Amino acid sequence: MYLGVDVGSVSTDAVLIGERGELCAYSIVKSGFDHKYAINQAIEEVCHKSGIQREDVKGIVGTGYGRRNVPDALKAITEISCHAMGIHSIFPEVRTVIDIGGQDSKVIRITDNGFVDTFVMNDKCAAGTGRFLEVMAQAMGIGVDELGMLSKKSKKVQPISSICTVFAESEVISRVAEGSKKEDIIAGIHRAIGERLMGMVSTIGIRTPIAITGGVAKNSGVVKAISSFVGGIPLVPDEPQIIGALGAAIYAMNNINSSLEVCNG
Ligand SMILES: Nc1ncnc2c1ncn2[C@@H]1O[C@H](COP(=O)(O)OP(=O)(O)OP(=O)(O)O)[C@@H](O)[C@H]1O
Ligand SMILES: [Mg+2]
Repeated sequence: MYLGVDVGSVSTDAVLIGERGELCAYSIVKSGFDHKYAINQAIEEVCHKSGIQREDVKGIVGTGYGRRNVPDALKAITEISCHAMGIHSIFPEVRTVIDIGGQDSKVIRITDNGFVDTFVMNDKCAAGTGRFLEVMAQAMGIGVDELGMLSKKSKKVQPISSICTVFAESEVISRVAEGSKKEDIIAGIHRAIGERLMGMVSTIGIRTPIAITGGVAKNSGVVKAISSFVGGIPLVPDEPQIIGALGAAIYAMNNINSSLEVCNG
């Protein structure tokens, strides 16, 4: 089996795949302040779910912001390459992947082999990321996992005019105080995220089909907002949060197989 570990700013995800690249098990844990602890926890959990020992893993690749902390890894590969490869293994037809994580958003155009063609990443700003949604959800006293369902009830979107997270938070608090409906405010927040991402997309141009990955893809309101801008429904994998780790596991498999070819050749 091959293991991919994505050490992100919010979650640390581990994916085990088999000899033919099939998904065997995955785990998602909080990254917290101690990356090494989170990595260990994610690996223990995924091995336990598959009923294997760590020693049974043939190759490991680390990705994400803390990728260099993954022990015994063959390589550390950027999450941009890993999201591209991960989504390609599920939806080979996809040509643009939008990864919306806790700290970063990336729009990645991919080749027909799952490699990176070109990409754009948000600058050091929380707007258009999971962090933006976490701050807004907290300001309204709800969980991030409730945003999607609540926004479905909206009948009148309340636009959020501030791009900056700090100003947008005050705007949300004022709207709540004025008595605006939470679902309408949330729909406005999702639209703001969509606009921000489309601004990024426009710098490199979009190529369809599009997929969305990262934890924020679990928010159906964000997916809907993006759909309204791109004019089609983007593909979302069953578990979008593990796509980076899945891509890393595929790189681990390909790395081992190509070194075997070199030995055998
Ligand atoms: N069940 C859920 N419903 C809606 N949103 C969710 C859910 N779970 C996580 N999220 C969102 O996903 C975000 C985290 O995504 P993810 O785990 O992909 O980030 P990360 O890879 O750690 O971050 P980065 O790639 O920026 O370093 C959270 O900030 C939150 O907004
Ligand atoms: Mg990530």
